[in-house]
Amino acid sequence: MTDITRAALEADMLRREIERHNQLYYVEAKPEISDYDFDMLLEKLIRLERQFPELVTPDSPSQRVGGSVTRVFASVQHREPMLSLSNTYSSGEVEEFYTRLGKLLLLEGLEDGEMVAELKFDGVAVSLLYHNGILVRGATRGDGLSGDDITANIKTIPSIPLRLPDGAGVDGEIEVRGEVFMRREDFDRMNDSRPDEDRFANPRNATAGTLKLQDSAEVARRKMSFVAYFLKGPGAGGDSQFDRLVRLEGLGFYTGGHYRLCRGVQEILAFIDEWSQKRRTLPYETDGVVLKLNDAALWDRIGATAKSPRWAIAYKYPAEEAKTILLDVVFQVGRLGTITPVAELEPVLLAGSTVSRSTLHNFDEIQRLGLMLRDRVIIEKSGEVIPKVKRTVLEERPLDAAPIVLPESCPECSSTLVRPEGEVSFYCPNEDGCPAQIRGRLLHFASRHAMDIQTLGEALVDQLVSKGLVKDAGDLYFLQEPQLEQLERMGRKSAQNVLRAIDESRSISYERLLYSLGIRHVGRATARELANAYPDMEALRHAREEELSMVPDIGPVVARSISEYFARPAFTELLEKLRQAALQMRASEPKLQINRNFEGMTVLFTGTLEAHGRQEASELVLERGGRVVGSVSKKTSLVVAGRDAGSKLEKALKLGVRVITEDEFTAML
Ligand code: IVH
Repeated sequence: MTDITRAALEADMLRREIERHNQLYYVEAKPEISDYDFDMLLEKLIRLERQFPELVTPDSPSQRVGGSVTRVFASVQHREPMLSLSNTYSSGEVEEFYTRLGKLLLLEGLEDGEMVAELKFDGVAVSLLYHNGILVRGATRGDGLSGDDITANIKTIPSIPLRLPDGAGVDGEIEVRGEVFMRREDFDRMNDSRPDEDRFANPRNATAGTLKLQDSAEVARRKMSFVAYFLKGPGAGGDSQFDRLVRLEGLGFYTGGHYRLCRGVQEILAFIDEWSQKRRTLPYETDGVVLKLNDAALWDRIGATAKSPRWAIAYKYPAEEAKTILLDVVFQVGRLGTITPVAELEPVLLAGSTVSRSTLHNFDEIQRLGLMLRDRVIIEKSGEVIPKVKRTVLEERPLDAAPIVLPESCPECSSTLVRPEGEVSFYCPNEDGCPAQIRGRLLHFASRHAMDIQTLGEALVDQLVSKGLVKDAGDLYFLQEPQLEQLERMGRKSAQNVLRAIDESRSISYERLLYSLGIRHVGRATARELANAYPDMEALRHAREEELSMVPDIGPVVARSISEYFARPAFTELLEKLRQAALQMRASEPKLQINRNFEGMTVLFTGTLEAHGRQEASELVLERGGRVVGSVSKKTSLVVAGRDAGSKLEKALKLGVRVITEDEFTAML
């Protein structure tokens, strides 16, 4: 056997094995091997394919890690229009739909038909084409007739099979439609690593934004999922929607599994009712129920209006609402100077928690809502993470309602506010002098994912700034014990603790230092890319805007913001202090050599580590794509047990979490 034949056989075997484990993990939620072993298989395949590039196939799991960059998405025609559904909001409307459909069925000489009730996933619709069982195209809905070809991005989604099972009878072309979505957990992880100013409001927006990214490697990192609800083509299997869903599962697609065949309107309403609360326990967002005529052979005969079929409808659950009183509006100044109006509300219970504040986003929003102080307002919580003020109840406006006065100057430093052209927000332009901005920057600098100086909380920062002891993060490193001791609630002991924590932060990596600076639009991911491209602060500082925009993940807006930041005289001062304080101004080792062996893993250290300090060990995991946690749960991927490990180790063993020694950890690095 020649080398290449042997390699071809091995690659084929690896691919099948990897896809099988992928299925077990992402579709069936029954993993058989650890994430680590899985990554090893994948790495082996990638190595083999690098050695023999002619062996790379379009359905190889190696394609899932992304990497290709698409400049513009090609527009592609759908095989048949991707219709949308008309919405209903009450059981009455559902009954009307059912009666209407019954009449249409009578015209066909049929008694009322069975319906399939499915959950309505809150994501983004896509169409997938398979040719002889191989995924050849993924496209967005677009205008329904043609959409964008987003195949490279689609291939990064692990729950989408790149190849359908052999012998499944899927010759020729079949089309699968469904929804790309983000599980809440994946959404939170992704969103938390973004700078505040770039956070997505909910998983659906994040999904839509991610599918449009041109860099498929970034798409892969964001972890999206896919649920299938439509199948067409030879081998579609059965001529009912129910059978097709079962068939989709047989082909390796995730359907969510929560669909039901309903006879008569009562069973439909019972399904809607049952899921109205239960849906909150699902790990992803759903916003309603979709009802489809089960007999797919009738779909064409019953037909569609211009926009939506007559044989299906969506029922949307009402967003949870509550009525309360607007007590006051306060204006907060963020660390980037943005003025955010915040509604202070009479506390009210909404979707299981008490709400007493809610952001009003910007001044336009206050105007749009026509808000006045003491108004009765409806607040709502839908797919959004934070509740929002939806509307004013004008009929109940009290006689003493008072207008909300929008500030013209900064509530903190009285500078005249500015509104950059084309932006919705007002800003305080006093970047270097506004105490609110200084405090915000310091708190960001000290935050967990930044320099992680835990003793530096809000109360202390307030005092440091108002007493003029600290003007920027650099000043922290020159604080003296007597200066701290004179502050409120600060004894000798706490002062020493604070200084020690500040001191320890000197060893935090260059990459994290970059994130800690709080440059607009630079979150953790961007900081990592920056550190890779410019492993030295001096080089980064002198990089020109055009150069910066060549760095992966950095577009023109971000490049502009970075170069503006470095051009500020205040930054030169800060940099000088940080340098004198001996912070990490360059990457510790060439970033390219670092593997991603801990990608997606949550790691816990317990007991005493001999070879590495805690801080260092944590850094090593972070650099390799993992996360470090402080307590064990079923979801913990790995526990590293050092000398004298105690209760956490016991708990890990009880929960069946993988436990390794420090030596094994070092080997994994
Ligand atoms: S069926 C003609 N089923 O909701 C059939 N759609 O408002 C069209 N959606 O565009 C779609 N879950 O993006 C269908 N189980 C489900 C769904 C679902 C979510 C989305 C889909 C569609 C929109 C219609």
